[in-house]
Amino acid sequence: MRLILDTDPGVDDALAIMYLAAQEDAEIVAVGSVHGNVAASVGALNALRVLELVGLNPPVAVGAARPLAQPLQTAEFVHGQDGLGGHAGPLPKGSTVAGSAAEQIVRLARENPGELTLLALGPLTNVALAVLLEPDLPNLLRSVVVMGGAVTVPGNITPYADANFFHDPEAADLVLGAGFTELILVALDATEQARVGTDWLSALAEVRGPRADFANKLLDHYGQFYSNMFGEHSCTLHDPLAAAIALDQKLATYRTMPLGVELTGTHTRGQVVSDLRSISSDAYISTNAGTGRVPVKVADTVDVPTFRDLMFKSLKG
Ligand code: RIB
Ligand code: CA
Repeated sequence: MRLILDTDPGVDDALAIMYLAAQEDAEIVAVGSVHGNVAASVGALNALRVLELVGLNPPVAVGAARPLAQPLQTAEFVHGQDGLGGHAGPLPKGSTVAGSAAEQIVRLARENPGELTLLALGPLTNVALAVLLEPDLPNLLRSVVVMGGAVTVPGNITPYADANFFHDPEAADLVLGAGFTELILVALDATEQARVGTDWLSALAEVRGPRADFANKLLDHYGQFYSNMFGEHSCTLHDPLAAAIALDQKLATYRTMPLGVELTGTHTRGQVVSDLRSISSDAYISTNAGTGRVPVKVADTVDVPTFRDLMFKSLKG
């Protein structure tokens, strides 16, 4: 599977890159950074660092430095000032390419019609810009896999929204309504099942090697955040699960529904809006985001044991 990765590394983004690098059936064709966990410029350097660690050298383009319609907000309180839990280390040897992440998505989609999967692990600003630059993008990409949103569960950065959608609600709403041939949403509904606890973390801590050593440092930081926030030393592997599902959709079951994002709610901006009523009569189709939108596939139940095993093996190197 040939992937364009759009990402805001970010601890779990870094773990997702490490997961992808360990899969023989995955090729990272290009990477774009986006504001979110950290500034887009910092995310690009972190992507280069992690890619060099795992021996990959795809082009890395710097993406949108701010959301479409609100001031920049970042999340160093979760991912550390350097975005990698304080373990970013020295500057990467490589450098970013010219041009923006959005332009890179459009160019590659035009050059490889119907072949590429776009895996979006951060706010959707670059993806929204790419749709605006190339209105035919929904037909040019093979599929889009998005980590973001919270459909039937609470949010994380707010009680109602996950961080990716909260950091750019307009972009998320535009992407969910763009009509991609196939869009798979891996929301908190799914990723919160993909939690690893002390047994899994302790077993990985026993593994030596450059990949495992770096992963253990990231997970130790991430685990501390979760301990402070939720009182348990565990980690929710949001982005690695989205990466795993992008490569093997059998890791989850799905519900298909049209989705939108709340844009004007005083408290609920960034919340996913969906019509969860089981109404069959067209006469009662809701006037919310359900009307006229192409439905998207929402990951529902995750095969967690298989995912945990795959993730462990990818970090063991
Ligand atoms: O809500 C979780 C998402 O927001 C993950 O992608 C995490 O990296 C942050 O970007
Ligand atoms: Ca992310």
